[in-house]
Amino acid sequence: MPEPAVPRSTPPDTRVRRATSADLDVLVALEQATFALDRMSKRQWRRHLDSPSADVLVAVRERRLVGAAVVFRRHGSDIARLYSIAVAASERGGGAGRALLAAVERTARRHGCRRLRLEVRSDNVAAQRLYECAGYRAFAIRAAYYEDGADARRYEKRLDAG
Ligand SMILES: CC(C)(COP(=O)(O)OP(=O)(O)OC[C@H]1O[C@@H](n2cnc3c(N)ncnc32)[C@H](O)[C@@H]1OP(=O)(O)O)[C@@H](O)C(=O)NCCC(=O)NCCS
Repeated sequence: MPEPAVPRSTPPDTRVRRATSADLDVLVALEQATFALDRMSKRQWRRHLDSPSADVLVAVRERRLVGAAVVFRRHGSDIARLYSIAVAASERGGGAGRALLAAVERTARRHGCRRLRLEVRSDNVAAQRLYECAGYRAFAIRAAYYEDGADARRYEKRLDAG
């Protein structure tokens, strides 16, 4: 049987592209539906869309925006930071999160970053599993990092390790 044209980890119906200002309202709605605390405001989203040191990527299925990720870079640093990743609740479990994460890594690599770091709530099992399956390793805890006092687990992946 011939090899599938698209790797199984990226479902054929999920596309990832750079966000534009036309996505702003949907990004804000996704943020509000996903996160109860530590939410980004519309103004913050607009700033990230305009920032040369931020990349905002969106996952699209049949022209609908179903997920988003924000990654930051710092001048003079080879460490990129995944600041946010979210998939609409009705679209979870279908590979959009994994596709977004892979695209974030490609984007960071293209900008010369050799490592990607992120923080995740210590009670967020789904996200931790996503990161661990993608090769991230937990290297530290940040106590009381979130608005409600929850701890963060810090993860890192070396991007040059493939
Ligand atoms: C975390 C999140 C982005 C994952 O997106 P998704 O599209 O559902 O993830 P995928 O379908 O691509 O799943 C990829 C892998 O993640 C893990 N995963 C995803 N959902 C999971 C769940 N509910 N329980 C356990 N593992 C899960 C699995 O390892 C999965 O691989 P598998 O399907 O081969 O088992 C999504 O659940 C989400 O938006 N959550 C709310 C926001 C959030 O927590 N963001 C992360 C903040 S750090």
